[in-house]
Amino acid sequence: MLRQRGCVLWFTGLSGSGKSTLAVALEAALLGAGHAAYVLDGDNLRHGLNSDLGFAPADRRENIRRAGEVAALFADAGLLTLAAFISPYRADRDAARATVGAERFLEVFLDAPIGVCEQRDPKQLYRRARAGEIEEFTGVSAPYEPPETPALSLDTSVLDTNACVESLVTLLRQRGFVPESAPPAGRGAA
Ligand code: ADX
Repeated sequence: MLRQRGCVLWFTGLSGSGKSTLAVALEAALLGAGHAAYVLDGDNLRHGLNSDLGFAPADRRENIRRAGEVAALFADAGLLTLAAFISPYRADRDAARATVGAERFLEVFLDAPIGVCEQRDPKQLYRRARAGEIEEFTGVSAPYEPPETPALSLDTSVLDTNACVESLVTLLRQRGFVPESAPPAGRGAA
């Protein structure tokens, strides 16, 4: 019915690397092309489902475990699920991959240098972390373990959002989650 196959694009990277911006832009592009897509992101899940969790390693593990379970359900429902979480620990991302199923889990690494992320600092979190006001801040006082074999790496300090969106749409087509060129359901020739 949806003319697509449910999957999870899992965006990982530092705070300020562009995960949410890119996920939202990709969601808009996919919806505009008639595909059902939905963004799950750290900031919104942490206000509700995961509001009991902080940023110690065990809390992040539980955050990513729940996010992986929810993402798997969305993928079961046929959605192109765009999950945007720092998800700094490789083992936690691997667990999410196992939950979702490796064949429909695409890891996307936003590998903008930390200097660029820190320069952007849209929420002033790096400044506060450097001042000692936020503990265990990823990249400053907590680790980030980059993916070893991501489906795609995007350096958002070099590529603009449109270029990243194009690469991701191409990836979804190549992997067969959306059709190569057929018009979306409900549109096109009668
Ligand atoms: S994750 O590490 O568990 O994957 P998640 O993506 O859900 O993190 O949430 C990250 C968001 O929480 C950041 O964008 C930032 O707004 C906020 N945040 C607050 N404290 C921290 C911290 N210590 N480390 C990282 N992000 C933090």
